[in-house]
Amino acid sequence: MTNEQYYELIKPYGDAMQVLLTRLEILNHSIYDRDASKPVHHIQSRIKEKRSMEEKLTRIGVTDSLINAKDHLMDIGGIRVICYFQTEIYTLLNALKRQEDMIVIKEKDYMKNPKKSGYRSYHIVFGVPVHALDAMEYYPVEVQFRTLSMDFWSSMEHKICYKKNRENKEEISRQLQALSESLSMIEEEMQGYILSP
Ligand code: GTP
Ligand code: MG
Repeated sequence: MTNEQYYELIKPYGDAMQVLLTRLEILNHSIYDRDASKPVHHIQSRIKEKRSMEEKLTRIGVTDSLINAKDHLMDIGGIRVICYFQTEIYTLLNALKRQEDMIVIKEKDYMKNPKKSGYRSYHIVFGVPVHALDAMEYYPVEVQFRTLSMDFWSSMEHKICYKKNRENKEEISRQLQALSESLSMIEEEMQGYILSP
């Protein structure tokens, strides 16, 4: 893939991502009435870098071409929504799913079913309609919903596991998995203070 091809490829993915970001902003200020009860702590977004696309295509065993990028990469546009609590994530998610012009391409609930590593998050790929002059096409945008505590754990785990060649790797993974459970309990306990009168 040449640089020119890369920049041409990512344009509509960036447009789709902007559409979804705007819809998330609207939901964030419209679902709840007061500022203090807004569900979103912050939102991050990115377009997958050329190098990262090439690495992933190689990893899944296909050549680095435009058509393969379109067919195999569902996270060229990626949004991370960091909320306070899990209940708010399901509220936002259901509100987005009710928007009839978008389609759900794939979803994985790692909050109900955490990964073996202890990773928790809700991953969903929406097909977002992008209208050009006389045609409409759906472009995938991956959204990762996390609570603050899930995001804290993921960021730390990423930092820790990035240092690959260490001897006590298994022991560290076991401890990280246990920490993920502890954080989940802490989060639940703190949510209790919000829900109680
Ligand atoms: P990818 O090829 O990595 O995109 O895998 P996939 O399409 O099967 O998606 P998956 O649902 O496994 O999620 C991949 C993304 O979730 C990664 O790019 C990370 O952002 C995040 N993720 C998944 N597992 C872990 C984990 O164990 N630790 C951390 N820190 N992040 C994870
Ligand atoms: Mg991914």
